[in-house]
Amino acid sequence: MYRTSSVFLGTFLLLLLLHGGMGLDNGLALTPPMGWMSWERFRCLTDCKLYPNECISEELFRRHADLLVSEGYADAGYEYIIIDDCWLEKNRDNKTKKLVADKKRFPNGLNPLADHIHNIGLKFGLYQDYGTNTCAGFPGVIKHMQLDAQTFADWDVDYVKLDGCYANISDMAVGYPEFGRLLNATGRPMVYSCSWPAYQEDAGEMPDYTSLKQHCNLWRNWDDIDDSLESVAQIMDYFGKNQDRIQPHAGPGHWNDPDMLLLGNYGLSYDQSKLQMAIWSVMAAPLIMSNDLAVVRPEIKDILQNRVCSAFEDLKIKVIAVDQDELGIQGRRILSKNQIEVWSRPITPVVSNNQHSYAVAFVSRRADGAPYRIVFTLKELELHNTAGYDVQDLYDDKNHLGVFRPANQFITRVNPNGVTFYKFTAL
Ligand code: GLA
Repeated sequence: MYRTSSVFLGTFLLLLLLHGGMGLDNGLALTPPMGWMSWERFRCLTDCKLYPNECISEELFRRHADLLVSEGYADAGYEYIIIDDCWLEKNRDNKTKKLVADKKRFPNGLNPLADHIHNIGLKFGLYQDYGTNTCAGFPGVIKHMQLDAQTFADWDVDYVKLDGCYANISDMAVGYPEFGRLLNATGRPMVYSCSWPAYQEDAGEMPDYTSLKQHCNLWRNWDDIDDSLESVAQIMDYFGKNQDRIQPHAGPGHWNDPDMLLLGNYGLSYDQSKLQMAIWSVMAAPLIMSNDLAVVRPEIKDILQNRVCSAFEDLKIKVIAVDQDELGIQGRRILSKNQIEVWSRPITPVVSNNQHSYAVAFVSRRADGAPYRIVFTLKELELHNTAGYDVQDLYDDKNHLGVFRPANQFITRVNPNGVTFYKFTAL
């Protein structure tokens, strides 16, 4: 009996290996990853003489790792410091064929930087590209996948963003899972962020989300974010219009990624910053900032760290907690009319009759001056729990609105290009 089952198990494992069907299953990213990444704010600035505080260099990442801790972001949950493009030498090492970090800007290689990041309690992320080159033209992984996966492990990388420039889109459905398996095979747990669906969507192809969520911890679905409300709005529209085929695939260990948070940069006002933070939380998005942490204005820092509602005793009702809700259900745009939108996400607590609580964001895309008055019954907001909901403003702890039942009206006023955001706790 014992022999039969061990033979059976052995055959089963062999078949799985041959089939290459072992999913990612690395136990990571059970909630959407949070951290900081260089790309949106610092792009491919490589001239350290001209831009000493902004160039892609060891210095930039050390400083931001330190700021993540000293400015309180780490306490709020931000954890990964991620190097995006432009960290490489133009060529691999001649003999070993290993990737080499730019010798001037990362004079010590990446290990001391990784050590520093780990020593202060953070995790280390690194960008690469599945194709022959990264989007900015540095060497990609395509012909050296095993070597590169091992090199990342040797550099103590905890998170890999694998982009898809200079690659055959038709190879990606096989190549990305293959690289994921190679990462796994190193024995070092690494969050695996895939850009494969973004390239397929751009080419008008339908990504296979079932395969994606088996092989990647998160994936970019669509275009890059830029520093403007317009860009945020385009991403919201993309996710809103395509939610039926995208939203169901998010869950613990596998997330849709609408791209980085812009807060703290040039393009978003105070209200617009609250808007991006709220909608990204409804979308169960990775909360990856890309900003200069040394100069984030205090009121924007408060949004990023949830301190706008600092007097809350129950930390669990804040915006980040919505993003990190343990159920991992991505929210949806449930109403869109007259430039007013309602986005809603089922969250904990779930009460005995299987009714969820909800985080509900009311968005105004209007610009006609006065705050816009929005009136809906709870039924219209798809809130049907007959015992009702206790309603709390997620951005204003003094604003506890009390109990509402499905037939009751809910009224809120939303600033132009702004948001109001509430937790409806099921009773
Ligand atoms: C692509 C990605 C961006 C960034 C750049 C770097 O455009 O989508 O997020 O990584 O490449 O070149």
